[in-house]
Amino acid sequence: MKDKFYITTPIYYVNDNPHLGHVYTTVVADAIARFKRAQGCDVFFLTGTDEHGQKVEKSAGKLGITPKELADRVVSNYFKLWKKLEIQYSRFIRTTDDVHAKGVLRLFDIIRNKGDIYSGEYEGWYCTSCEKYITERETEERRCPDCGKETDLLKEPCYFFRLSRYQVPLLEYYRAHPDFIRPKTRYNEVYSFVEGGLRDLSITRSSIRWGIPAPGDPSQVIYVWFDALSNYLTGVGYGTDDQEFEKRWPATIHLMGKDIVRFHAVYWPAFLMAADLPLPQTIFAHGWWLQDERKMSKSLGNVIDPMPLMETYGVEPVRYFLLRDVTLGLDSNFSEGAVRNRYNFDLANDLGNLNSRIQKLLSTAGMPELTRAVPVGPAEKTLEANYYKCRKTYIDSFNAYSPSRALAAAWEFITALNGYVTASEPWTLLKDAAQRPRLDRVLLTCAEGLRVIALFIEPALPEASRRIADTLGADHDDVWEFHPERAFKLNTSMKPLFPRIEEKREIKMEEVKEQPKETTPALENLISIEDFQKLDLRVAEVKSAERVPGTKKLLKLMVDIGTEVRQIVAGIAEVYEPETLVGKKIIVIANLKPAVLRGVESRGMLLAASIDGHPVVATFEGNPSAGTIVK
Ligand code: MSP
Repeated sequence: MKDKFYITTPIYYVNDNPHLGHVYTTVVADAIARFKRAQGCDVFFLTGTDEHGQKVEKSAGKLGITPKELADRVVSNYFKLWKKLEIQYSRFIRTTDDVHAKGVLRLFDIIRNKGDIYSGEYEGWYCTSCEKYITERETEERRCPDCGKETDLLKEPCYFFRLSRYQVPLLEYYRAHPDFIRPKTRYNEVYSFVEGGLRDLSITRSSIRWGIPAPGDPSQVIYVWFDALSNYLTGVGYGTDDQEFEKRWPATIHLMGKDIVRFHAVYWPAFLMAADLPLPQTIFAHGWWLQDERKMSKSLGNVIDPMPLMETYGVEPVRYFLLRDVTLGLDSNFSEGAVRNRYNFDLANDLGNLNSRIQKLLSTAGMPELTRAVPVGPAEKTLEANYYKCRKTYIDSFNAYSPSRALAAAWEFITALNGYVTASEPWTLLKDAAQRPRLDRVLLTCAEGLRVIALFIEPALPEASRRIADTLGADHDDVWEFHPERAFKLNTSMKPLFPRIEEKREIKMEEVKEQPKETTPALENLISIEDFQKLDLRVAEVKSAERVPGTKKLLKLMVDIGTEVRQIVAGIAEVYEPETLVGKKIIVIANLKPAVLRGVESRGMLLAASIDGHPVVATFEGNPSAGTIVK
């Protein structure tokens, strides 16, 4: 039987259109779901919209339409966006769906019958924007700790959920399941929050009309979070299709931003415990996309609209960027320069060029013949071994919910294949008919290499993957095996995958501060070769990288220059996330006089080009070892 894998995104509010933060969670979930499908799992991927509550009611009121009309309007934008991004969800749930309401009522009834829902009166400081009461310890100024807006003192009759009863069971559960809340930082936060004590939670409101009425008491509407969280059950049949529910529940992973981890890691498991339902396996909270160090959010008015970004760079490059540029779980400052770099370097240069080189070779040389090809030699064996190594890291990383690391492994193989093409000199072989058997071996290896690359990139770049696979017409047995004797039915050549972005198309959204134009110096002040030889330029491997505290631009790198590991400081922090540099091979001037930058010593300098004021670090094709002299 296939392994079952059930993944969810949060259901998004419909008071406003989707922004890059919503795209982020959904793309990550989609990539994980695609990976799991490729691994042969029976995947169910649920996403949807959270349509009830005061926020939606208010936004609709401002527009002079009903909440349902607003929801329909915004939902259609979500549909369009997910289609464009090729999000392959299994079901899109809306909290206004009838089947959803049925499930919510059942859950409410079961918990009430158990004695964990009781009626009372609630008074507290309420943040309308975030739809939640603020606890005493969170605010002194009565401002919402999340959005900074003022809160209102509300008092209302309502039903309470006996959350306090679950403090001990929750803590026991966390301890017994250390992987329940991930990453570890979030586990620790949630653990100490629960340890600090839990008060009962009001789960209905009398002040709101737009929602599901409480069973047996229409004066009360079910609180938006009780309603919303239940979607993870109702989306797989709870209350309407018991067979489907038995098959799918519990979820393998609820993915969400760290803003709502508490709802998922405290309230939700407590509701489930109260209803005697099994708990999800993992609550995974990813970090935030920031703008100027603040969370990108509609209420702060600093969001990035995904549409123009996708128009400029294409849909797939945006997917790739989101998955690759940041480690899942960490925050990241959004910069269009970083999108551009990922596009130009990873996609146009590494992947795009490799694909064009191989496609061009195949179409010039014609079909390689298996029976004629020389046997696999050491170069092919090394490449094959490299593939299996990268594949292991790729699979382990995706399974550990680290798409960025998985893609880095895929790119390691792309670099290896690029190196293989260069080293085997197919264009020279092509000139000599006697070398045809050797050329055929090289061509077959290139085709097989490209084929596995198409598999590697599918979760991030589904269309590019399809296009590559289509031109190769490979047989699909043992897809994940690197097969030197695989047969191909090559199709005609294809258009470039990711043409380099021209300058004029580049900057659309970011406010561009005037940068002094970097000019190419004229051919004067010539130096002699002896002058040049004074420079000790070396291949260096980045061992670690971190920001220099209190600076925006500086990174402190530890680099292996062959003879020692040294500390250098580089002004590249605005474009490069530190962790993406680790393992990279760069060029360092090793005999530069040491300097102290913002109190940190730098013993050497890395080489980088400056493109529109954005640094682009010089790296290598192939994988030279640290310490190799650059001349
Ligand atoms: N409706 C609730 C969720 C209910 S789930 C049972 C909600 N909706 S939301 O529209 O505000 O979406 C919040 C989610 O959007 C976050 O958890 C996160 O997944 C995503 N993001 C919103 N802003 C984000 C960033 N700036 N960065 C990354 N993700 C962000 O909360």
